[in-house]
Amino acid sequence: MSHARPLVLVSSNRKGGCGKSTTVFNLGGEAARRLNRTLLIDTDPQASLSQSIKPFGSRIIEELPPDRSVVALFDDRMDPDPERVIHRTEFDRLDIVPACDALTRFNYPDPTEHGFLQDSLRQFVYEVSDRYEVVVIDTPPNLQMLTFAALVAADYCLTPVPAEDFASQGIRAVRQFVELVQATRNHDLRWMGILISMLQRIAIHQVYREMLVDTYPQFVLEAVVPLATPYKESVSLKTPMTLHKPNNAAGKAVVALFDEVLQRTGESHPNVLVEIPKPVKKSRSKKTTTTTAKKKAA
Ligand SMILES: Nc1ncnc2c1ncn2[C@@H]1O[C@H](COP(=O)(O)OP(=O)(O)O)[C@@H](O)[C@H]1O
Ligand SMILES: [Mg+2]
Repeated sequence: MSHARPLVLVSSNRKGGCGKSTTVFNLGGEAARRLNRTLLIDTDPQASLSQSIKPFGSRIIEELPPDRSVVALFDDRMDPDPERVIHRTEFDRLDIVPACDALTRFNYPDPTEHGFLQDSLRQFVYEVSDRYEVVVIDTPPNLQMLTFAALVAADYCLTPVPAEDFASQGIRAVRQFVELVQATRNHDLRWMGILISMLQRIAIHQVYREMLVDTYPQFVLEAVVPLATPYKESVSLKTPMTLHKPNNAAGKAVVALFDEVLQRTGESHPNVLVEIPKPVKKSRSKKTTTTTAKKKAA
């Protein structure tokens, strides 16, 4: 089943502080580093993803007119023109449709009662599908309209779960929500599974991991994201982890996560670029300058 549509991933859990936005930020950065044209879409009215990527910050996002944000995809009085709602970040191949507070009023608690809104994100992604290889969507910390619309647009849903979150009811709720979207609007949607986030080398975290593997066999990713300060630093530098430090332990965890995500998508998205480009050697240009200088001197 090969097609030219971008790979569309959603990060969702019904709680805050799980690492949803961090996952989108870092997977998006890694996709772009591997030369994929990548679009981030923020559907969380809190807009933390939008605020945490260069050149954006809380002030720019607060002052952003709603019709230049993801709101335009949901509000039928606005024009959802990609040229207006897609913004370039400071990083090559990485664009974003930012969120803003005005999005709150579209997050209806019962998504199935809001016909056309359910499909608005999917239509938008379809419209820009020849411009991107990868689309990564962030969602609010609940299972309502905006998460529903994100899932209608998606191929896969990934659920970040902090390593000490023993309330596995939350995971079941996300899974059921994915099944609801599958049954009603998007038969191709798949739950990729659980990404254990903020893992520490402590016994209780290992016990937790084993418990999840027992409960959700094959749905717990091998890749884990450790609890580590570099992730916080990369947010404060507004630079995704591997666009900043790909080779430290935190960067390597993102690389392994991206690899596993691609592996779990199988052959379904042949357009996605997998190779990590080799860093460009800088010494050559220096040599040329020296040669030129020597020639001039002679
Ligand atoms: N692996 C990690 N190590 C350290 N801090 C993390 C990690 N993942 C997320 N954080 C921090 O935890 C907080 C919540 O993460 P975030 O991705 O915003 O969660 P969510 O989007 O689910 O609310 C943020 O301050 C973020 O910087
Ligand atoms: Mg978030």
